Amino acid sequence: MRAHMITYGCQMNEYDTHLVQSQLVSLGADMVESVDEADFVLINTCAVRGKPVEKVRTVLGELRKQKGQRKLVVGMMGCLAQLEEGQQIARKFEVDVLLGPGSLLDIGKALESNERFWGLQFKDELHEHIPPPPAGKLQAHLTIMRGCDHHCTYCIVPTTRGPQVSRSPDDILRELDMQLAAGVQEVTLLGQNVNAYGVDGGAKLAGYPSFADLLRMVGKSGVRRIKFTTSHPMNFTEDVAAAMAETPAVCEFVHLPVQSGSDRVLRRMAREYNREKYLRHIAEIRKHLPSAVLFTDIIVGFPGETEEDFQETLSLYDEVGYDSAYMFIYSPRPGTPSYKHFQDLPRELKTERLQRLIAKQKDWATRKNAEKLGSVQEVLIRGDAHSEGFLEGHTRGNHPTIVPKALGATGAGIYQVRIEQTSPHMLSGRILGSDGQPLPELPRFTPEAAAVMGGLPMA
Ligand code: SAH
Ligand code: SF4
Ligand code: F3S
Repeated sequence: MRAHMITYGCQMNEYDTHLVQSQLVSLGADMVESVDEADFVLINTCAVRGKPVEKVRTVLGELRKQKGQRKLVVGMMGCLAQLEEGQQIARKFEVDVLLGPGSLLDIGKALESNERFWGLQFKDELHEHIPPPPAGKLQAHLTIMRGCDHHCTYCIVPTTRGPQVSRSPDDILRELDMQLAAGVQEVTLLGQNVNAYGVDGGAKLAGYPSFADLLRMVGKSGVRRIKFTTSHPMNFTEDVAAAMAETPAVCEFVHLPVQSGSDRVLRRMAREYNREKYLRHIAEIRKHLPSAVLFTDIIVGFPGETEEDFQETLSLYDEVGYDSAYMFIYSPRPGTPSYKHFQDLPRELKTERLQRLIAKQKDWATRKNAEKLGSVQEVLIRGDAHSEGFLEGHTRGNHPTIVPKALGATGAGIYQVRIEQTSPHMLSGRILGSDGQPLPELPRFTPEAAAVMGGLPMA
């Protein structure tokens, strides 16, 4: 079998793709790079907004055409698969295999079956099957919990991924050891709401540390960098900020989605905090980590949002001074309370507000990134950038960064970089050697450079 996977959605989906891919390989499949080479195409889907759902429809439409012309098995997994909406789509586009986020291990059974196979149960033993990351990858995700116990009125995730289930600390540390052995230097702890770790369904689990203590434990593993996402402000505690400050490996990066700056809107979203409480958390973070990079998610045009409400979101942005943000237009999701009970605002109004918010975000990102000019940042270089002769990576604060290839630093690794240029989207600079001086830039395509590099091609 030649299998190809397409992944939409968040980091949790990327993690799940990694899991399923390893299952496919252990079943004897060859993973191929394109749909055309594959006889099994599996799409990992997202349902959080209308757009990712539309993308899946388009791809499935294409695949159905191909199915008429050649032997092709089509599968759909992930969040959309779990929903009635997704199952309707699957029927319409003649999908053969359908696996919800809790049934991924059924992939073997599904492929053996001669008829349509739909797996939609939530099973617990998923994690025992996580493979090590591919060799040479410096970055890895580590899921510490699945599902979500909140009920934000706009959000489909609790329906697609079920209630919160925390992984045991032993299990987490075991996976981390495997990642470290594979050479991972930066691990991102994943969950819909990592601050609620160890408290499932409102009940504290015996023998589970708090999230702050989990950070401290992971900090002792020897991993160079620790990040985590996402934090829900409702469950954020000052101890998390304290743990971040006292654990050197934890990066000074906080993604704390606010969604709106208006108390009235926050109440209608059922976010369980107000503006004042949110700002208190920001103050706690700044107290422990004065240089923290702050990131957020904002939804514009939630049903009933007035111009005044929107102004409060803009003023909150200024009050916090975010480094950057993910910004979304409210997308009504069938099955959510806000879809059932509230009237969607006109599209033009939502788009116009998004434009104004993007202008604000750009303004702050320009300013915040410009403050980094001349500073030395620790950059995890992943490898070649799009533009030839450059490497790309990101800082501890998640700023995308590019550097020219330098002698002594041509590939993946963690380097000190002096920032020489900034834009709202990225930083660029030069890699420093242990003496603090910039490493000599790699001359391109000269015989001398080839000799220094041991004759390796440098493109
Ligand atoms: N558990 C995370 C969020 C997961 S979804 C948290 O609570 O922070 C990621 C982001 O998608 C959310 O923060 C929200 O900003 C956005 N989002 C979720 N549902 C949405 C919807 N119906 N329309 C627009 N944006 C949405
Ligand atoms: Fe959705 Fe809210 Fe849960 Fe985040 S906390 S996944 S926004 S219900
Ligand atoms: Fe992630 Fe999309 Fe599911 S954001 S949790 S893949 S609905």
